[in-house]
Amino acid sequence: MELVYRPRRLRSGETIRRMCRETRLSADSLIYPIFVDETLSGRRPIDSLPGQYHYGLDTVCEAVRECVDAGVKSCILFGIPAKKDALGSSAWDPEGVIQKAIRAIKSAYPEFYVVTDVCMCEYTDHGHCGALCGEQVDNDETLELLAKTALSHARAGADMVAPSDMMDGRVAAIRAALDADGFTNVPIMAYSAKYASAFYGPFRDAAGSAPSFGDRRGYQMDPHNRREAKKECALDVREGADVIMVKPALSYLDIIRECADAFDVPMAAYSVSGEYAMIKAAAQVGLIDEHRVMCESALSIFRAGASILITYYAKELAKAIREGEIG
Ligand code: PBG
Repeated sequence: MELVYRPRRLRSGETIRRMCRETRLSADSLIYPIFVDETLSGRRPIDSLPGQYHYGLDTVCEAVRECVDAGVKSCILFGIPAKKDALGSSAWDPEGVIQKAIRAIKSAYPEFYVVTDVCMCEYTDHGHCGALCGEQVDNDETLELLAKTALSHARAGADMVAPSDMMDGRVAAIRAALDADGFTNVPIMAYSAKYASAFYGPFRDAAGSAPSFGDRRGYQMDPHNRREAKKECALDVREGADVIMVKPALSYLDIIRECADAFDVPMAAYSVSGEYAMIKAAAQVGLIDEHRVMCESALSIFRAGASILITYYAKELAKAIREGEIG
């Protein structure tokens, strides 16, 4: 047979396959989500996220040590406060759960990079991501609460803040508050294209942040939309976002690709709780190979254009990368 092109030549052995790989992975790109519960001492397994834990303020540094041991250099913190109210005021309390967790982590692991999720839904008694006006979240009033919260995180020592609320204008509001207080070097990672997704189900159980009425479609994006994601990213970049994010990841690889191509800031993807839970559940009943599906899923997100991945599998992925199974 006379064939000029034989793509299989470059697949004939492990060395040449690895040499020709188009996507390279590094543990440097991984961020691990950590849930800190103000009322807890010790750690407690999260039912909706097998293999994940709630940590008390007394054990949060154990979670970080496990990351460091695995080669993961960064976490994103989520807080479960002892008290909730209509405005979510414990979110910006200097003695709040996240502020204390940041201080504990940074004093034990100064090099560990601490990102904080900035949102009101874990702190409000109604579970929405901001202050209510009737049954709607009041955008402009919420901006002030978010800015105060982000500033309190920076004052406690957070390395980066990540607003996940989807209010209009939040990046500019947070940037102004940080700069006015001297935190000009604290970057903002904006959850820019955050869709109103059913894939957040296990997280809301874990964070106790399900809305008590209605849903989040009044502020999070409609999954039918693609161009709107570009608009959201453009607005966030214009307002000063240092990193933009698409969330969820696996069902939104097209959005990751499009926005990564369109903007010249790093692109993060959040492989959310439902993505993790689906892999865990299918593996538990023997339907898939958990390790290989984990690796392939993460790889697909980087191939789509992400340069940062937030994932509950961060520690396992770091190990898989180190051992050469992917990357
Ligand atoms: C807070 C927030 C959510 C997630 C991250 N930040 C939940 C939501 O928007 O309801 C989801 C993360 C996950 O599912 O893993 N607004």
